[in-house]
Amino acid sequence: MFPAEILDRLGADELRAHFRNAVIGREMVVLEQTGSTNDAILQGATANSKEGLVLFAERQTAGRGQRGRRWESAAGKGLWFSILLRPRIDIASSPRLTAWAAEAISGAIQQEFSISPTIKLPNDVQIEGRKVAGVLVEMRAQEKATHLAIVGIGVNVNQSCADFPRELQSRAISLAMALDRQVDRQKFAIALLRNLDQTYRAQFARDS
Ligand code: BTN
Repeated sequence: MFPAEILDRLGADELRAHFRNAVIGREMVVLEQTGSTNDAILQGATANSKEGLVLFAERQTAGRGQRGRRWESAAGKGLWFSILLRPRIDIASSPRLTAWAAEAISGAIQQEFSISPTIKLPNDVQIEGRKVAGVLVEMRAQEKATHLAIVGIGVNVNQSCADFPRELQSRAISLAMALDRQVDRQKFAIALLRNLDQTYRAQFARDS
């Protein structure tokens, strides 16, 4: 028997196969570990980078939340990823991206699990009043090109209460805790990316 953590790896090849004709997901990378996926994607971005790259990490050692807070990223228990985008908006409109991502996360949870999350503005997705996901959008101005946007998303998927630091235990929840069963992270990642891709194209994309 394989331990659950080996069976439940995110597979970049299978993820790629689902998003060949998409904008979001047309390039897909899964790292075993990084500091923060937002930082990793930004470090690799150039003025010519195409939008749509999705970078997952099974574990983040320096995951970041809003207002400089630390984001807990237990190994293999959640979905920790960032998307490189070039939306048709100016930097002052970046809250629109945060709202879009939070709505797409909430919608995917509703479609896949028949749970109705609530969005606590600006960037929290909650179930039963506890945080299940968060969004961190960072934009970089470009001189002669559309601005870069990094949309970082963290979703608590298979944590138990004990996987969260004590101070977060009353405020955080995972999908598994809400459903009382383990969740297939790969399947949910596909559903979430599909929702993000479709709604992004409708609202922000330059070439869909
Ligand atoms: C928040 O709710 O405060 C925002 C949390 C955002 C966490 C995600 S996890 C993937 C990406 N990389 C980071 O360092 N942060 C975002």
